[in-house]
Amino acid sequence: TGKGTGLGRPRSLPALPFVGSLLQLAGHPQLHLRLWRLQGHYGSLYALWMGSHYVVVVNSYRHAREVLLKKGKDFAGRPRTVTTDLLSRGGKDIAFASYGPLWKFQRKLVHTALSMFGEGSLALERIICREAASLCETLGAAQDTALDMAPELTRAVTNVVCSLCFNSSYRRGDPEFEAMLEYSQGIVDTVAKESLVDIFPWLQIFPNKDLALLKKCLQVRDQLLQQKFTEHKEAFSGDTVKDLMDALLQVRLSAENSSPPVPGLELTDDHLLMTVGDIFGAGVETTTTVLKWAVLYLLHYPEVQRKIQEEMDQKIGLVRHPHLSDRPLLPYLEATISEVLRIRPVSPLLIPHVSLADTSIGEYSIPKGARVIINLWSVHHDEKEWDKPEEFNPGRFLDEQGQHIHSPSPSYLPFGAGIRVCLGKVLAKMELFLFLAWVLQRFTLECPEDQPLPSLEGKFGVVLQVQKFQVKARLRDAWRAAS
Ligand code: HEM
Repeated sequence: TGKGTGLGRPRSLPALPFVGSLLQLAGHPQLHLRLWRLQGHYGSLYALWMGSHYVVVVNSYRHAREVLLKKGKDFAGRPRTVTTDLLSRGGKDIAFASYGPLWKFQRKLVHTALSMFGEGSLALERIICREAASLCETLGAAQDTALDMAPELTRAVTNVVCSLCFNSSYRRGDPEFEAMLEYSQGIVDTVAKESLVDIFPWLQIFPNKDLALLKKCLQVRDQLLQQKFTEHKEAFSGDTVKDLMDALLQVRLSAENSSPPVPGLELTDDHLLMTVGDIFGAGVETTTTVLKWAVLYLLHYPEVQRKIQEEMDQKIGLVRHPHLSDRPLLPYLEATISEVLRIRPVSPLLIPHVSLADTSIGEYSIPKGARVIINLWSVHHDEKEWDKPEEFNPGRFLDEQGQHIHSPSPSYLPFGAGIRVCLGKVLAKMELFLFLAWVLQRFTLECPEDQPLPSLEGKFGVVLQVQKFQVKARLRDAWRAAS
């Protein structure tokens, strides 16, 4: 029974000393599916032990809402692990920083900067459209040959983030860009292997191949970040803000000049660097992966692709490019994006939360310091909330006239919700819409004839990964005729 609350603890998976419940989880690489299925035996809310850490797993929207929204503050912490400490220099970023005034300040800063470069000034839209044009050029040049779109999508998304953060971008084959691709892949690969070091921190003293690789990749990342940072500091005058890095430097300057200085709100160089590192870490792999899932589903459902193109032909035509302001005109494309985010949530377990006080979820007491995993896969595949959840059906997000987009269930949280909601939600949605609209206006995406349709099964990792696949981008006859 939980202390003083009169409530009981959630049912727990069996646990052994030292290893906790790992035996129930080991050998199941698809962790989100394993946690989803365990509901059958333990109910939708249950507990388990990872080494010495008490972990609560939430599989229903009702409980997720309580954690993220109703009691958001109680659950706004993040676990500190060996890996996250390495990634964020001990939580000096946003995603892995613990809840507190400095984190709030940092988050607000980035939020303000994003809206400054976002919808208001149109700058981000221009950047995304420039990258979309370049992506279309590459697809056009590859005409009718089978192409792995992944590196091109990564470059497009990376360049958006680079322009936002540093006012710079990369050409194809740029060695600095190649280095960046390599280190990000290294980070994704190593962090994905639910690193045992995080459960048994004492393993660090033994040579660990993955940890060594992670450290090497982070060294490359930090060198690149540091170089950009130094360049910005040297060029910074305080009057013109060209990018996020400048915006952060400016805010720090004005905080330093304000008297008396606010204690506890000092942004060190490390804080600024890790904040920018976060935007890359949280903004590139996620958005790229959603685009890959979208392309993969379009290969599987050519009729969905055709419908998007018909809608575009009617509402936009072929003489001008799609704009962000076209979003209300293209509900079927918007619905398709929503359905991709539902059926294959790229962040199937969100980022773990931590309870900051003794609290409760539903009828269960939760102790301070518990790690809380929201299983978004379960929330998005709950049969009580969704009609045939395994079916890919963009129409479920549209009203009867097919005009307005809305979620048929509140059980839809692709970006999380509440205090820790994704900071890049608006930017990510702008990118998904514009990249897909630009590509589908010109091209029909097909599976190369000699290849089987690639699998729709994801692979659990930092994000829900798509296996490698190739695409043939065929220039549409309508586009050819119009241009
Ligand atoms: C956190 C989803 C793109 C920045 C998150 C979380 C999710 C998410 C589920 C965790 C919420 C939680 O722990 O409760 C996505 C998806 C994206 C995307 C699906 C693409 C389609 C981006 C982009 C950026 C970004 C482009 C950068 C501008 C962040 C940050 C956090 C975060 C900084 C941590 C927030 C915090 O801990 O306070 N995102 N994200 N994300 N995301 Fe995104």
